[in-house]
Amino acid sequence: MMDHAYGYGLISRAFHWAMALLLLWQIISAALHYALDDTPIADFFFGFHFSNGVLILALAILRGLWGLINLSRRPAHDGAVARAAVVGHVAMYALLIAVPVIAIIRAYGGIKPFSALGVEIFSGMDRKIEWMSELGNQWHGFLGWVLIALIAGHVVMAFVHTYAWKQPMIARMTRGDERP
Ligand code: HEM
Ligand code: HEM
Repeated sequence: MMDHAYGYGLISRAFHWAMALLLLWQIISAALHYALDDTPIADFFFGFHFSNGVLILALAILRGLWGLINLSRRPAHDGAVARAAVVGHVAMYALLIAVPVIAIIRAYGGIKPFSALGVEIFSGMDRKIEWMSELGNQWHGFLGWVLIALIAGHVVMAFVHTYAWKQPMIARMTRGDERP
């Protein structure tokens, strides 16, 4: 159940791969919104962007708390490359929270009702709150793309560790045990 020196326990692995799937949807929906806005396929994928994003936020908070509880048990990250990986992981956590929160602040300050996961969360303001809209318009998409770039780098490095440097790193997150 808990993480240990040779890998991640069941709960951390479930969080990691469930969120990887949800983020795949989020990345596809953002890319279609960018490239093919107002087409049926973009409308289909982007139709779940709000609910999926709110779900990612909830899971990121729970996963972060679970990560803190397990911090001292997790595999050691010694050396410059491993320390850089930790900085990358912390940056991903910060953006997994900041990107949806900024979008929710924009939605809160908007005039339209906002629903996610089938529940109406805000009913809509009488007048738009300018700074909230501006915050979202300037930062949500940009930081979303930065997060997607970090995820791409993370996936590439997982394969480099495993296949080029012959450190079976991916097994830490799949089987959960990378004992030599
Ligand atoms: C799609 C979004 C993804 C995100 C946001 C993400 C995020 C993270 C984070 C924050 C960690 C640190 C441990 C934790 O807190 O759970 C981690 C660990 C890890 N991830 Fe991912 N990940 C993603 C996808 C992937 C994919 C597709 C792979 C493999 C092909 C992968 C391989 C790994 C491995 C091997 C570790 C353990 C690394 C270590 O112990 O230093 N991740 N991931
Ligand atoms: C971790 C979760 C999320 C990620 C990674 C993400 C990512 C993105 C990206 C990269 C874009 C830019 C697409 C483009 O350039 O056309 C975007 C657009 C958008 N997102 Fe998200 N998003 C997330 C959560 C949310 C949430 C929770 C909401 C609603 C409260 C939301 C609402 C929007 C809206 C309205 C747009 C279009 C306007 C804009 O580009 O700012 N997103 N999202």
